[in-house]
Amino acid sequence: MRLFIAINFDSNTIKTIMDIQGRLRRFGKGNFTRQGNLHLTLAFLGEVEPIKAESVKEIMDDLTIETIQLQFNRVGKFTRGDEYTYWLGLEKNNTLSQLQHELTSKLKSSGFNIDSRKFSPHITLARRMILHSSPDSSSLLSAPFGTTVNKISLMRSHHIDGLLTYTKQYEVYCR
Ligand code: 2AM
Repeated sequence: MRLFIAINFDSNTIKTIMDIQGRLRRFGKGNFTRQGNLHLTLAFLGEVEPIKAESVKEIMDDLTIETIQLQFNRVGKFTRGDEYTYWLGLEKNNTLSQLQHELTSKLKSSGFNIDSRKFSPHITLARRMILHSSPDSSSLLSAPFGTTVNKISLMRSHHIDGLLTYTKQYEVYCR
């Protein structure tokens, strides 16, 4: 099963993100992240044997999770040829970075193959976007906004009736 560990958001935060995505939609066509799939990835595990998923849950249980205040402050893009990936980015957050570091270190120690590239927290809004006009990133955001995170989730990525779907497998809360 294809797994990743992510932060999912409350409905008010999702609504604000969908408003940003709605403004982005006016500028072109693309593969827009569905409302139920919006998330921030902490660790991508890739294909994992179901039996090994149990040790991921144990690692999650073992984490020191504090409440995290996130502040979203920019919309950015990656360019690939004439296609763009748009994402929502956030202010530097030491609590988030520490959690991601603790999580990925423990996963690596347990033999999981985790990407060692620098952590760049983001929420993907759209992939493979082709623009007919260029949006001004600050007007897409409208205003910075915050949210409180108190849990992280183990997610499975799969297709249901041809639709990319992320299904929660496990969740741990801050103590
Ligand atoms: P992305 O949104 O920037 O593509 C599920 O695929 C989640 O895992 C997405 O948030 C995706 O980030 C992230 N991810 C990180 N590394 C990945 C990889 N090598 N392949 C697929 N998804 C990856």
